[in-house]
Amino acid sequence: MKHSTKTLRQRKNENLKFSVVAAYDASFTTAINQAEIEVILVGDSLGMVVQGKDSTVPVTIEQMVYHTEAVARGNACSDSQALIITDMPFMSYANIDDALFNAAKLMRAGANMVKLEGGAWLAETTTKLVECGIPVCAHIGLTPQSVNTLGGYKVQGRSDEQQQQLLNDAKALDKAGADFIVLECIPKSLATTITNSTSFSTIGIGAGSDTDAQVLVCYDMLGLSSNPAKFVKNFLADTATAKAPSIVDAFSAYKQAVENGSYPTKEHEYQ
Ligand code: KIV
Repeated sequence: MKHSTKTLRQRKNENLKFSVVAAYDASFTTAINQAEIEVILVGDSLGMVVQGKDSTVPVTIEQMVYHTEAVARGNACSDSQALIITDMPFMSYANIDDALFNAAKLMRAGANMVKLEGGAWLAETTTKLVECGIPVCAHIGLTPQSVNTLGGYKVQGRSDEQQQQLLNDAKALDKAGADFIVLECIPKSLATTITNSTSFSTIGIGAGSDTDAQVLVCYDMLGLSSNPAKFVKNFLADTATAKAPSIVDAFSAYKQAVENGSYPTKEHEYQ
């Protein structure tokens, strides 16, 4: 099965949740494909988990192209092929011309969709990208590229004013033509309201269990992070009681838990 915006829209229509894993190379892509995960995100989190930097800000478009090509090569060899979303790195979409120019590089490298961090100010850019044949995933809440203006990696959307702003942002990006939106580190109740008030698929990370999909970074869900966030679950530890636990089993356990609603639970969400 080859996943596409069409097959994933169908899942939303049928009330079926899907899973996303952030990964950056061909070998992890093969394991993710074996677990039949629907979407791979070539996230700019690679700046932190692969390169060891303290934020995603230094990541370049050339690095995103390199990792997208690696993931696309791994994906091409599998029976179950994930939809590939690639992050547009910091300052690569600050105006519409730059967004089109840089998104084209990522699509040529093998991405099926690009992801942009930010609210309603990106509505016009989103529409233009979609008009040019480039599907868009939006990303609001905790947007790591803005760590310097946010003052740290903090839960967003706790005040009434912020909640209204994030809901307005989501509605504007839905109307602008985005297919998906990542909701990162926001109260569960806000993620539920956004999911119920928009038509695109919501992908949660630290946003509770009511979103249409979940995303986790591959290293986090395999227990390789030294200081995991509250929303992270180690799915490799979970399968360790099996006779021959494997990374593929861990990805399968994650997919199953997202589908049957057993992940995330209350311990993984913010109020
Ligand atoms: O860069 C990334 O991996 C992300 C996810 C954590 C949502 O944006």
